[in-house]
Parts: sequence; C-alpha cells; structure tokens
Amino acid sequence: MGDTKHDYTIAVYPGSFDPVTFGHLDIIHRAANVFDKVIVAVLNNSKKNPLFSVEERTNLLKEVTRGVPNVEVDSFGDLLINYVSEKKAHVIVKGLRAISDFESEMQMASLNHKLNDKVETFFMMTNPQYSYLSSSIVKEIARYNGPISDLVPQEVEAALRIKYAEDRLR
Ligand code: PNS
Repeated sequence: MGDTKHDYTIAVYPGSFDPVTFGHLDIIHRAANVFDKVIVAVLNNSKKNPLFSVEERTNLLKEVTRGVPNVEVDSFGDLLINYVSEKKAHVIVKGLRAISDFESEMQMASLNHKLNDKVETFFMMTNPQYSYLSSSIVKEIARYNGPISDLVPQEVEAALRIKYAEDRLR
C-alpha cells in the first residue's frame, strides 16, 4: 500500500457504446477533468449483436469527443483487465445510473480487482438528467422514428436515422 501513486493517471472507460449517448458523453467529459488521459474503449462484442459495427461505434465516439484533448478512442476484444494493463492504465471508470446497475457493476469491479488488484474501478453517478438514458432505449425510439435529439449528439442521430432507413428498405 502507498507505493503506487501515479504522476500521470490513465483511465479506461469501457462499454459497448452502441451508440454513444449524452449520458456516456457526460461521464467522458467529467472523467477527462479528473484523469490525465481517458481511453474510451469500445468492446468488440460480436455476441451482443450490436446495431453498429465496432468501427462505426469508434468513429462516432471520435467525432463527438474531438474537442476533448486528453480523450482517446480505441476498441478491445480481450478481457478488460488485460486491456487495461496493456494500456498501462491504472483506473477503470464506470457510470452508475441507478440501483439496478449496481449489482452487475459490483460483481465486475470485484472480479477485476481479483484479477489485478493494482487497477481501481471508479464509479461516477450519471447526471440525473440522463438517469433514464441507455443506448437500448435510444435505439428503440429511433426504430420508430421518434425524437432523439435530446438523447444523443447530432452525428449519432444522423447515423441512427440512416441505419433504420436502410432497415426499412430491406
Ligand atoms: O456498455 P456495456 O455493454 O454495459 O459494457 C460492458 C463492458 C464492456 C464494460 C463489460 O462487458 C466488459 O468489461 N467486457 C469485457 C470482457 C470482460 O473483461 N469481462 C469480465 C468483466 S468482469
């Protein structure tokens, strides 16, 4: 204890980001104010059957974080804790929306701590304004052509409109 204080703290903010929402962006901006570098890491998760490819998801994230100099966007397909070590990061950042997020987040944080106790998980309470927001809910609304401009950045809204318009043409 006490021997691992870092001068330059790198945090990894992992997720599916299918697609990135204002809730995610709020966490990214706040994490970038606290840590020296934040790597937003998109899970390359073929099992979850994402709407957007990992390339589309990373490109959208790059577009919407362009103005934040200490944020990097990357993807990973490995165990998160291995990816964090590979990046020489020390912190995992997660957003917590509600009690319902807590159980699985607690499990993941405990497991990651068991796998590597040099890496700490930091939780940030999601801005209450976005407590109801999730990528799934945004996709659900967009699928029925509902209003999403208060939920996601313009670039993401445009990408969703194109995706669902393509679907309707099929
Ligand atoms: O946005 P999501 O889908 O809630 O993010 C979940 C994510 C990517 C953080 C989680 O599934 C993860 O870390 N996956 C990588 C594989 C892994 O390390 N699994 C064990 C976690 S304890």
